[in-house]
Amino acid sequence: MEQASARADWQIHSLQETAELAERIAAKAVPGTVITLDGDLGAGKTTFSQAFAKAIGVKGIVNSPTFTIIKEYDGEKLSFYHMDVYRLSQEEADELGLDDYFYGEGVTLVEWASLIEDLLPPNRLELFIEHLGGESRVVRATGIGEPYADWCDEWNKMGATNENDGSL
Ligand SMILES: Nc1ncnc2c1ncn2[C@@H]1O[C@H](COP(=O)(O)OP(=O)(O)OP(=O)(O)O)[C@@H](O)[C@H]1O
Ligand SMILES: [Mg+2]
Repeated sequence: MEQASARADWQIHSLQETAELAERIAAKAVPGTVITLDGDLGAGKTTFSQAFAKAIGVKGIVNSPTFTIIKEYDGEKLSFYHMDVYRLSQEEADELGLDDYFYGEGVTLVEWASLIEDLLPPNRLELFIEHLGGESRVVRATGIGEPYADWCDEWNKMGATNENDGSL
């Protein structure tokens, strides 16, 4: 059966708005939530992840896990699994057992997820961040399967748009 999917886009103009968007998305997180992050070097994937971690109550510093691939944190209600798969080899992927994270009790954020598309769970929220210059960004969300498609529909009702001129 074809998976339901929906889109929602936002234009953001500051680090503060990135944090607000991360909060809005984090408010949806439940055990097993999977969110992917793609976009050029320096687009803001790690910055978004840090704001997301803060929003779910992770205390302390969240660094980019480029060399460790995965870092685990305790949030207030949920664990937070932060991945950066830029340097992940197939062999390491097998060893790490990614599904234990994706289908675990926490929320997983995957930077550079498009590089391991075949290993991702079918249902997920995909975020693509595009750098527009200065602090401005476009964040394009695609919700694939439920509940993610519903999230995007809801965000569209709140003023995001699938025509790329929405604001927070
Ligand atoms: N609105 C914004 N949202 C996110 N980051 C922003 C914004 N405005 C400015 N920045 C800056 O852009 C940089 C984004 O770097 P960050 O490490 O988050 O990118 P990245 O996508 O994770 O890069 P990489 O692919 O190299 O890991 C940071 O220095 C951040 O402060
Ligand atoms: Mg990064």
